[in-house]
Amino acid sequence: MCGIMGYVGSRPAGPILIDGLGRLEYRGYDSAGIAVLAENGGLSIHKRVGKLETLASAIADRWPNGHEGIGHTRWATHGKPSDINAHPHADCTGDVAVIHNGIVENYLELKTELATAGHSFSSETDTEVIPHLLEHYLGENEELVTALRKTIGRLEGAHAIVVMSRQHPGTLVTARVGNAGGVVIGYGGGENLLASDLPALLPHTRRVVFLNDREVAQVTATRVTYWDSEGRPLEKEPQEIPYDSVSAAKGQHKHFMLKEIMEQPESILDTIRGRAQFDTPAVQLEDIPLSKEQLAKVRRVVFVGMGTSLHAAMIGRHYMERIAGIPAEVDNASEYRYRAPIIGADTLVVSVSQSGETVDTLAAMEEAKRQGALQITICNVAGSQATRIADGVVYTRCGLEIGVCSTKTFTASVTALYLLACYLGQARGLIDKERLGGLLEPLARVPYLAGEVTKREAEFERLAHQFHRYNNFLYLGRGIQLPVAMEGALKLKEVSYIHAEGYPAGEMKHGAIALIDREMPVIAIALKDDMHDKMMSNIEQVKAREGTVIALGSEGDEELAAKADHVIYVPEASPLLSPIFTTIPLQFFSYHIALRRGCDIDQPRNLAKTVTVE
Ligand code: M6R
Repeated sequence: MCGIMGYVGSRPAGPILIDGLGRLEYRGYDSAGIAVLAENGGLSIHKRVGKLETLASAIADRWPNGHEGIGHTRWATHGKPSDINAHPHADCTGDVAVIHNGIVENYLELKTELATAGHSFSSETDTEVIPHLLEHYLGENEELVTALRKTIGRLEGAHAIVVMSRQHPGTLVTARVGNAGGVVIGYGGGENLLASDLPALLPHTRRVVFLNDREVAQVTATRVTYWDSEGRPLEKEPQEIPYDSVSAAKGQHKHFMLKEIMEQPESILDTIRGRAQFDTPAVQLEDIPLSKEQLAKVRRVVFVGMGTSLHAAMIGRHYMERIAGIPAEVDNASEYRYRAPIIGADTLVVSVSQSGETVDTLAAMEEAKRQGALQITICNVAGSQATRIADGVVYTRCGLEIGVCSTKTFTASVTALYLLACYLGQARGLIDKERLGGLLEPLARVPYLAGEVTKREAEFERLAHQFHRYNNFLYLGRGIQLPVAMEGALKLKEVSYIHAEGYPAGEMKHGAIALIDREMPVIAIALKDDMHDKMMSNIEQVKAREGTVIALGSEGDEELAAKADHVIYVPEASPLLSPIFTTIPLQFFSYHIALRRGCDIDQPRNLAKTVTVE
């Protein structure tokens, strides 16, 4: 969940660390810190509670002098956000500095043991046991890398750790344990870097190595050496990353969220490009190396994901049943992993994860793997852990998504799930060319129509201005629009801090209707599809209780216009693809309400882009 960055080379380390952390701040932003080893052997540690800019301005006119260092942006788990609790943490001697992502689940036991042995602690964090354990093993004359290997052997939980030491100048050591977010090592010329995520490395290099579970690495300016958890040397070759760091810039947009909403026509198009063939209808998915025989054996599909990705997965379930004709279920990954799920070899598990590093999704995938299921992941980040666990990947081609609030990756995931269902239906011989043609033709229009919706920002902004003072919203949908209602409510909650519920409209009468009054606007998704009549009844029920209704409807639906207080018309599209067009106005609505309320849109309080702790 936190951002980690390391540098060793010939350039001044401080500015490189701060720049890298700036690119990782979406992972956590309640405090930040750096440690730099000066040529005279001094280790200077600077930490500040608050956003990175607080730290950056504190050191702007007195950059620590040195060519190797580590840095961290924190999302607090143990110990409140404060200067003291910020990373890096040091041992008693001040020789060792550590940054860490993850939770030391047995830290109380270790802290008691270390305190009894005479170590003194200055923070309330779980992380601080790590430098003290290192101090202990270094005191037994172990090499730094061996001390780290022994240390991780004592820790429970999942971790990414980076260490530097005054006694080992020119060297960083790092380890990954489990799925607490990754460690990526970037190879430069005469310098090397490491980070929790690619964006921090891309300005310097595209040649990278991802650490796997329980691997340890030693990084100097000219060499990177790897070991497994038993201390056996490993050979790892750097891979070339195709990402363009330019896309990390906000461009002319005020916020990344707005930029990313606007990018959806392009990211949807990129996700389709080269995969859907429209003349002789066919779908090709380049990263699914599963045979027809393997796909033919699938009897059941289980979708897993969290947050926005879970909502995309819920739409994927409709696709799998209606397009590929395979029984499908969807589960919240954090529930699934602890539910003793029964997964057979005839189950295909489809995970959805923008980052490919969400801890609960990865744990659900590990469980599926343990039980022998086939797995495909819908993912945006090349080389992420999810893509390495799964047997096949459908990449969403969105480029970097920086806003903590997911937008373009939702619609691209929905697009990828649609392609996957078509692909499976085709591979299993369930859909013929004619039906496939009928499914792909409306897909070809989606990028254009999405562009038409984004052009209407001003209309959604006006509506947002009328409603930005309300404190509760109810979002209603049915069928394939239920996940959109849930996603709309999630967007509003996370960026504007307004209470919002996404609810199955049919369930409303069983409780939520008691909440409806003039103070609770209801957003109802009521397209002209097979749920239209039912949604109209729900709207009547809301109106009968003096509720205000904002409806999303199909062009020309006058009956809806007569009943609802406000109507947002969405383009006519195939019912299966319409969730893309109902989602985009709701993204704009949340964005403009949050803007009006002065919220921190790209970095909402308490959140982080990638949730790598439970
Ligand atoms: O990286 P993932 O897609 O696995 O992340 C899952 C959720 O944390 C994520 O979708 C979260 O709900 C969104 N940032 C909300 O906008």
